[in-house]
Amino acid sequence: MISCESTSVDDTAGIAAAVAELVIDGDLLALVGGLGAGKTAFAREFAGALGVTQRVTSPTFTLANRYEGRLVVNHLDVYRMEGAGESRDLGIDELLDDGVTLIEWADVIMAALPEARLDISFGFGDGDDDRIIRLKPHGTAWEGRSVALADALRRWSRVESEGPPC
Ligand SMILES: Nc1ncnc2c1ncn2[C@@H]1O[C@H](COP(=O)(O)OP(=O)(O)OP(=O)(O)O)[C@@H](O)[C@H]1O
Ligand SMILES: [Mg+2]
Repeated sequence: MISCESTSVDDTAGIAAAVAELVIDGDLLALVGGLGAGKTAFAREFAGALGVTQRVTSPTFTLANRYEGRLVVNHLDVYRMEGAGESRDLGIDELLDDGVTLIEWADVIMAALPEARLDISFGFGDGDDDRIIRLKPHGTAWEGRSVALADALRRWSRVESEGPPC
């Protein structure tokens, strides 16, 4: 897991742009975190870094927005879904066939998502603009890119203790 400190929207933009450099068609980014934690801010900056010029708005009511940049960006928010069962209606497999897919509140439907994912969690820090952004690559799709990801995020990353040894 890579743990990053963001102290501003600009930092989050830098982190999002670093991830955007490494994504390929078919990638799924599972965004998790409370209200106002920065999921949409990340998605907006991520899409911008991929050359999307359209305004990226929260898909809370539209469920899925599609943008075209260097890659297609599918942006979903499943906050209002009742769980993995309902997610069948989203056609996740079809979305994944076409571009990069970002899902806000992905934890609501995690059971229905493929294992090959980049999980990105957003937590609050001490100051109003402080956020802890944790990135965890899963599956073979990310195996070959995890070192490059850690390198690209070095500017913001910090060592997080995982508790006392043994
Ligand atoms: N370091 C930071 N990174 C991201 N956003 C920040 C940061 N500091 C302050 N903010 C502000 O926090 C808010 C984040 O809102 P955003 O809509 O991205 O949250 P969200 O996680 O998508 O919430 P929701 O679950 O309601 O969709 C924005 O108003 C943004 O300007
Ligand atoms: Mg949002």
